[in-house]
Amino acid sequence: MPRLETGRLILRPPEYSDAPAISALIGEYDVAKTLAEVPHPYGEADAYEFVSNASFRRARGEGFVFAILYREDLALLGTCGLRLVDGTFDLGYWIGRPYWGMGVATEAARKLVSFAFNSLRSERLSAGWFADNPASGRVLEKLGFVADGSVSQPCRARGVELLCNRMTLTKENFGRKKAA
Ligand SMILES: CC(C)(COP(=O)(O)OP(=O)(O)OC[C@H]1O[C@@H](n2cnc3c(N)ncnc32)[C@H](O)[C@@H]1OP(=O)(O)O)[C@@H](O)C(=O)NCCC(=O)NCCS
Repeated sequence: MPRLETGRLILRPPEYSDAPAISALIGEYDVAKTLAEVPHPYGEADAYEFVSNASFRRARGEGFVFAILYREDLALLGTCGLRLVDGTFDLGYWIGRPYWGMGVATEAARKLVSFAFNSLRSERLSAGWFADNPASGRVLEKLGFVADGSVSQPCRARGVELLCNRMTLTKENFGRKKAA
């Protein structure tokens, strides 16, 4: 499993020793409430299960999850990942609240998308964002994702179904966006 690097970030598979940092950051309601499957409250045991599932899915080629670390001090900032859903990799990410608004999600997701197209040989990726989370829609738009309808999707932390905007990115559109 490769370690991916960007100007500011290192992306590497999550480890059990990441569990305290993961649970502290994703345990904040403001982070969990715009994710589909993350419970709230979220404890260290949930983080261990997350790391274990990531390793299981990676071994089967069904999922590629990365911890996002700041290069300078190796602080864990969040995670991002690709998960195979009906034959297409679906992109997901979250960043801890102290690190919002610095372009971290965009920088990490851009690298992960390159990995999907170049190393996993994907032709198309999907992603979704809850309608009340426009920052995530903006991250996807910056990468070249385009709207692909909307669905009602359960949000575990909030315990309700919410409108989720679906988006798609082709390899061609990603290349075009990068070149622009
Ligand atoms: C959504 C999230 C990933 C964004 O992370 P981030 O590192 O702050 O994102 P970036 O800084 O790379 O980019 C955010 C973009 O959204 C824009 N933005 C922020 N708030 C916005 C809002 N309310 N409306 C519209 N755009 C907004 C920013 O201006 C920026 O765009 P720009 O570069 O054109 O200025 C982060 O807030 C998060 O982890 N939230 C909780 C979990 C989550 O929602 N994950 C995604 C699930 S689909």
